[in-house]
Amino acid sequence: VINLSDQCSLVSQWVSELRDVQIQTDRMRFRRNLERIGEIAAYEISKVLDYEEKEVQTPLGISVCDVLKEQPVLATILRAGLPLHQGLLNYFDKADNAFISAYRKHQRDGSFEISLEYVSCPELENRVVIISDPMLATGSSLVKTIQYLREEGHPREIHIVVAIACTVGIEYVLRSEPNVKLWCGAIDEELTAKGYIVPGLGDAGDLAFG
Ligand code: PRP
Repeated sequence: VINLSDQCSLVSQWVSELRDVQIQTDRMRFRRNLERIGEIAAYEISKVLDYEEKEVQTPLGISVCDVLKEQPVLATILRAGLPLHQGLLNYFDKADNAFISAYRKHQRDGSFEISLEYVSCPELENRVVIISDPMLATGSSLVKTIQYLREEGHPREIHIVVAIACTVGIEYVLRSEPNVKLWCGAIDEELTAKGYIVPGLGDAGDLAFG
């Protein structure tokens, strides 16, 4: 698990703005901060991907450059994942994309299960997949999404990018999917009985899109 705000950086500043009730009313800033965290995560993840050498013709000669060996698949969980996904796509600008709608389907007794409905997914066989979702609460949405993606194809490597994760959710994801790499903007300790992260930031989907 990599906590992107372990060392103070702009990520800590952006996470603080996402959490702040006075600032998060500005939807454009809220979405843009998620997007910026996606951009930084993309840069950090890019350091652990595979590269190959390419001879590039410049106006003055040949330069041997390291270029990405293959494009990752960027997968996001609708709808709150969209701004974070856009940030990743800004940097991995040639990536293939997958969209998954996972939501909490509440039962009469107050419990909920995750329902997966709309899915659009490219070929996943032997590919690097980067899944984005701003909140990792119970972890059920992510685990269900990963199980689905594994049935669709056999991704070689899975990275998960979240803005705020809670420890219980991280443990659940890693117990179910020990080989994924998690990149978090921040990590909180508490998860309420209703599945909300505390202090968290509230409902990311509503804050981004109303
Ligand atoms: C939120 C969030 C995650 C999920 C996290 O989505 O964006 O997808 O909950 O919870 P979990 O870790 O307990 O599964 P929500 O269902 O509120 O949908 P939205 O993106 O449409 O707001």
